[in-house]
Amino acid sequence: MEQYAIKGGVPLVGEVEIGGAKNAALGILAAALMTDETVYIENMPDVRDTQIMLDAMQSIGVVTEKVDAHSVKINASHITDLTVAGDAVKKIRASYYFIGALLGKYKEAKVALPGGCNIGSRPIDLHMKGWRALGATVDINGGLICAEASKLVGHHIYMDQVSVGATINVMMAAVMAEGKTTIENAAKEPHVVDLANFLNSMGANIKGAGTDVIRIKGVQKLHGTEYTIIPDQIEAGTFMFAAAVTKGDVTVKNVIPKHLESISAKLQEIGCEIEEADDAVRVVASKTLRHTQVKTLPYPGFPTDMQPQIAVALGLAEGSSMVTESIFENRFKYVDELTKMGADMKVEGRTAFITGVPKYSGANIVAPDLRAGAAMVLAALAAEGVSVVDDIRYIERGYENFPGKLAGLGAQIEKVESDRELQKFKLKVG
Ligand code: EPZ
Repeated sequence: MEQYAIKGGVPLVGEVEIGGAKNAALGILAAALMTDETVYIENMPDVRDTQIMLDAMQSIGVVTEKVDAHSVKINASHITDLTVAGDAVKKIRASYYFIGALLGKYKEAKVALPGGCNIGSRPIDLHMKGWRALGATVDINGGLICAEASKLVGHHIYMDQVSVGATINVMMAAVMAEGKTTIENAAKEPHVVDLANFLNSMGANIKGAGTDVIRIKGVQKLHGTEYTIIPDQIEAGTFMFAAAVTKGDVTVKNVIPKHLESISAKLQEIGCEIEEADDAVRVVASKTLRHTQVKTLPYPGFPTDMQPQIAVALGLAEGSSMVTESIFENRFKYVDELTKMGADMKVEGRTAFITGVPKYSGANIVAPDLRAGAAMVLAALAAEGVSVVDDIRYIERGYENFPGKLAGLGAQIEKVESDRELQKFKLKVG
């Protein structure tokens, strides 16, 4: 039993260092096996999902060496197996990046169907369509996605829907294909750009990442590189909203403010002050929060991965707000949890209708998935009294040392592993 025990009501104040982007790291780890030379990656977040990727890589003969908590050396010159199917990889989404990477390098891959957060239907048709367009045969057999090709040849690929995963997966499969590949209606997320930059630093020829047309000229092979992963946009955004809901004053450091624009804009709209520096953003929340409307969209729109966090803030804002989820259809599971804390919210279709309440009160709640789990922690930090957040394994998939970083800002939060520890926490916080 691992839980977070939280006594809310303390404004968070101070500075917090943001780590490397989890969703960039997951793609970059898979891409690192596309060369036989050594790859050195820095600013790797030390979270459960990256560890699962590293373990999976070791299971097929990739040599991985953690130089320190956030740096890793990878050498994939002696891959022994093109099948990645351990139990752990079935639980994460990004395991499917091994297909793009192995297919691109070895023209063959078998990978367990991916899991990941249960936030709606998460098909992989666009990935398969892209690999097939490059000349691969792709089937699903016995729970494995099996892809193979005698050769891969560049092609013009139109993505019917903007997909981060499919853009990354097709990009990896195409970098060593013969000739030119064009991906139209590509995802523009910062981690898509980071992956393209990483592959280019290994000798790939990818242009246009960050726009909706990515052009790739196939190269014969890739070489080793040293690369630093970009900061995590969503971790940063989560701490920015932690400041907002606790009426705090928090500076997120080691960020790219440009990547946070849609988040900063919404925070300003609901009454927070934002100060931007070169690699930091300060959020000051001294006034009562105001209502607004928000709709999640692909980058540069407001991220779906920040949807539960903004809903927690709007639940405490004056007036009525609307949050519309346009990417995943099942991303409102946290609303029942928030209702237990006194929130006034109801969901109709893809929209949550929120009437602000003056405060939340502490409750026993569960983390329904990674981002909603982080949002439940924010709600508990804002609430009066003690809350206990269960199922924190979801949160640990994507947030490194979340309680430690929050405690550094003054939060009263502890990870507890037994009832005794929980009682001790309650006695301590009074
Ligand atoms: C990535 O998921 C992220 N995961 C998600 O973050 C994030 O919510 C999502 O992008 C959107 O930004 C990782 O990077 C590991 P998509 P992904 O393909 O790639 C549809 C987190 O909390 N679609 O961009 O799976 C799909 O159903 C996680 O860190 C197809 O129809 O998302 C969705 O409606 C949660 N067919 C839309 O596209 C496909 O083949 C966007 O999904 C692929 C996707």
